[in-house]
Amino acid sequence: MSTPHVVVVMGVAGTGKTTIGPLLAARLGVPYAEGDDFHPPANIAKMSAGTPLTDEDRWPWLDAIGAWANGRAGLGGVVSSSALKRAYRDRLRAVAPDVVFVHLTGDRTLIEDRMTHRQGHFMPTALLDSQFATLQPLEPDEAGVAVDVSGSPEEITARAMDALRNLERSPARPAR
Ligand SMILES: Nc1ncnc2c1ncn2[C@@H]1O[C@H](COP(=O)(O)OP(=O)(O)OP(=O)(O)O)[C@@H](O)[C@H]1O
Ligand SMILES: [Mg+2]
Repeated sequence: MSTPHVVVVMGVAGTGKTTIGPLLAARLGVPYAEGDDFHPPANIAKMSAGTPLTDEDRWPWLDAIGAWANGRAGLGGVVSSSALKRAYRDRLRAVAPDVVFVHLTGDRTLIEDRMTHRQGHFMPTALLDSQFATLQPLEPDEAGVAVDVSGSPEEITARAMDALRNLERSPARPAR
């Protein structure tokens, strides 16, 4: 690939961001950063107490992810962030204008099944419902690709690599 991509792997909980992100980074030969690691201590305290984060809580977190992504501009990198809302992606792009999103998309039943089998995690169905309700998919003016998450992690990673190659041939359409 010509310029190394800085990829944000996005998608609802359980869609495979933490699984696919490092594999994609390895394939691209760039570092991976886990988006959850960028939360300020106040957010971690809130989440530990089971209190949902507000958008106000999310801005400093998104700014920190954006700062990492921008630091990788021209070098390449992969970072995970659910980035469900357009406003969250706008915030990331405000700091890191060149990021490309890989939206991991999947059938709700498949994702729920994978979540159920995840070690040490329990995700109530209602939380997955709210994730799907919040999700605003990529719009035509946003640089990015949607990648289906059926199959093995290796298959998904290969699919993401193909989609990124195609993206170079047909970049995002500017907003009218
Ligand atoms: N292609 C796959 N095939 C089978 N299991 C998978 C696949 N991808 C991910 N998983 C499993 O599904 C579960 C959820 O994946 P993962 O933790 O990567 O999702 P996530 O998007 O990072 O979720 P969160 O938003 O909660 O951090 C994990 O148990 C993971 O091992
Ligand atoms: Mg994760």
